Amino acid sequence: MVVTSSPSQLAKDWAKGYTSQPNEYEYEIQNIEGQIPSDLQGTLFRNGPGLFEIGGETIGHIFDADGMLRVFRFQDEKVYFQNRYVRTKGYLKEQQEQTILYRGFGTQKSGGWLANLFNTNFKNAANTNIIYWGKKLWAMWEGGYPHQLNPETLETIGLDNLDELLNKETFSAHPRIIDDTFINFGVSGISPQTLTIWELNQQGKKIKSSSYPVEGFSIFHDFLVTPNYYIFIKHPFKLNVLPWLLGIKSLEQCLSFDNKSKTKILIISRQRETMEVLETEAFFGFHHGNAWESEDKIYLTTICSNSFPQRKKDKMELDKMSFDQPIFGQLWQLTIDLVTKKVNRQPLIERSCDFPSVHPTFVGKENRYLYLNVASKSTNKTPIQSIMKYDQSNGQYQMWNPGERSFAGEPVFVPRQSPIEEDNGYLLSVVYDASIHRSYVVILDAKNLNYPLTKCYLTHHLPQGFHGTWTPQNFLK
Ligand code: CO
Repeated sequence: MVVTSSPSQLAKDWAKGYTSQPNEYEYEIQNIEGQIPSDLQGTLFRNGPGLFEIGGETIGHIFDADGMLRVFRFQDEKVYFQNRYVRTKGYLKEQQEQTILYRGFGTQKSGGWLANLFNTNFKNAANTNIIYWGKKLWAMWEGGYPHQLNPETLETIGLDNLDELLNKETFSAHPRIIDDTFINFGVSGISPQTLTIWELNQQGKKIKSSSYPVEGFSIFHDFLVTPNYYIFIKHPFKLNVLPWLLGIKSLEQCLSFDNKSKTKILIISRQRETMEVLETEAFFGFHHGNAWESEDKIYLTTICSNSFPQRKKDKMELDKMSFDQPIFGQLWQLTIDLVTKKVNRQPLIERSCDFPSVHPTFVGKENRYLYLNVASKSTNKTPIQSIMKYDQSNGQYQMWNPGERSFAGEPVFVPRQSPIEEDNGYLLSVVYDASIHRSYVVILDAKNLNYPLTKCYLTHHLPQGFHGTWTPQNFLK
């Protein structure tokens, strides 16, 4: 007999994956199914929300939860785990006072509108991504500066302005690395905005930067890069800032997605430093896959949705979440004709999906395989739980399903040394298993997703995370 979880059980399990983990651990993982490949040497750095309550009060949105680093160091077929909160100013102050002191994307301070009136003091949650570059480890959050950390101990060193490279700009949580160049962007202003893009060399020093004016209000979460272009997708949002300034509504509730307007594609020449703006139908999506150039066209993959997943109130009622409407997007390919200025869209994956990634060598180059989280069923009536390897050359795919009560996070591709092939490597993902309320790291062979190579079980759970990266050093003391 096949037992199928009821939708409410699924929502409960999914919500349990956002239970706080207040403890900080450091240990060698003992409970290992299968074997850790001997050539897997390095660190899986991950970041994500850790605390959903402060002093008994629940925060308003998972985007506002304090960043907790989850780190897996692989050496000689062993793996060492450590998790640690980023000691941001806001984290330290709120932990000391045991109350919500800051507003966030979907969080209001308690005490009604008066407590929030003209309060524009956001908490840098340092919760979105983590990357090691130029001998610095950064916990990243898109609304401010990155926090620098000690890669051996995960101790917080402090906010980093990158040798005064950053001034009023933010430093996004979605850098791209192409041909050993680290590229990131930041914005300043609310409406209109200025978009600034920096290129850093392997030592973390500036190669160049350029700035562009952008009309109206935009949410730039991610971007794309090719050898000749930076590509930004500007989804049609409107922001009515007054109720937010008056303390009546959170920022999230002041946003509206204008599906009668156009989505704009900003194509910026890396060499000429000029920007061209093209238009296509309205859509929204947080994340992009990859982009590449061929003759007079740019091809890109992106997660598209017809709407923005906006809630009616500032409450985290995750167990009441209905998956009847897809809350994640679908994968589309956009073809941008640089001569006719036309943008065509074509769906690639229709089931809900998110967190697309590619082999790092293929960033900005034509790629065949995309790795991403997908809904386990094609009906879309589920959250994203499985890992898919999608073949863009023929539309075929392989999928690893962790089970009905488990939720796999972003798959991170770890290349094997040689040969460089798009699927010659491992996929690492942190999986939350609600049936035992524990998490594990799964190691998949990217050539064959059918059978996981290894599962490394933690002794506890980790809240479902956002993003992370791999680095070949393991910083073991
Ligand atoms: Co993201």
